[in-house]
Amino acid sequence: MTAQILDGKAIAADIRENIQSEVRQMLANGQPPPGLAVVLVGENPASQVYVRNKRLACEQVGFYSQLHTLAADCTQEALLALIEQLNKDPAINGILVQLPLPQHIDEETVTEHILPAKDVDGFHPYNIGRLVLRRPLLRPCTPKGIMTLLQRTGQQLEGQDAIIIGQSNIVGRPMALELLAARCTITVCHSRTKDLPDKIRQADIVIAAVGRAHFVQDYWVKPGATVIDVGINRLDDGSLAGDVDFDAVSKKAGWITPVPGGVGPMTIASLLENTLQAVKLG
Ligand code: GUN
Repeated sequence: MTAQILDGKAIAADIRENIQSEVRQMLANGQPPPGLAVVLVGENPASQVYVRNKRLACEQVGFYSQLHTLAADCTQEALLALIEQLNKDPAINGILVQLPLPQHIDEETVTEHILPAKDVDGFHPYNIGRLVLRRPLLRPCTPKGIMTLLQRTGQQLEGQDAIIIGQSNIVGRPMALELLAARCTITVCHSRTKDLPDKIRQADIVIAAVGRAHFVQDYWVKPGATVIDVGINRLDDGSLAGDVDFDAVSKKAGWITPVPGGVGPMTIASLLENTLQAVKLG
């Protein structure tokens, strides 16, 4: 069997096109464009790339975007003051503080400082709580993008066994809530999980968010399973690799996402969707 490719790049381009026409309509109606403020603290090279891609996507669909760069040694108070200013700014509908933050800054305090209606990352406890209660408003971007990918396979999600490898606040946990809301049976695994390959073999849907290149092996995967690779690992030769051994697993899975060009573009597409949604919430 050779897996069908879930082409996140193409699906994200579709979503961007729809958003672009919605923005044109807003402008034609005399409304201002959706505004996104991106805050980058320090000089983490991966974060710089992510932030640049997010801003490029904003420009492409006609959003108004601002980039605020703060030095790695800026105080937490300075960051909170900036967030307060953005919370009050009517031209800004969405605020995104790129993570991780430097050690001396408390990520929870920062996340909770963003107005929930402008929290386009969906990380604020209010937005996470809404997802827990199955009444989501702004949903975390990577899990939301993955749900869009899963819907595009045309498969029924209800009743499927889904396994999530990784329990982070950004991906694993909200992913579990999304899949549970879609009526999957979920297993969340982490570094203390026993017999991981046996658990993966049971799953119809595998979400790999481990952060280890080529971690998921073909002989762990049930034939025909849908395999979603969230990993972006930089190899010694400078190339990018996912958390899944793509060449081998793609011979066994039913559907698979490539890296790059799978989940990454969908995260950004979801961010644009959330920013548009935030206009309506504001
Ligand atoms: N760092 C890694 N992924 C994300 C994300 O989705 N949002 C933010 N703000 N930071 C991240």
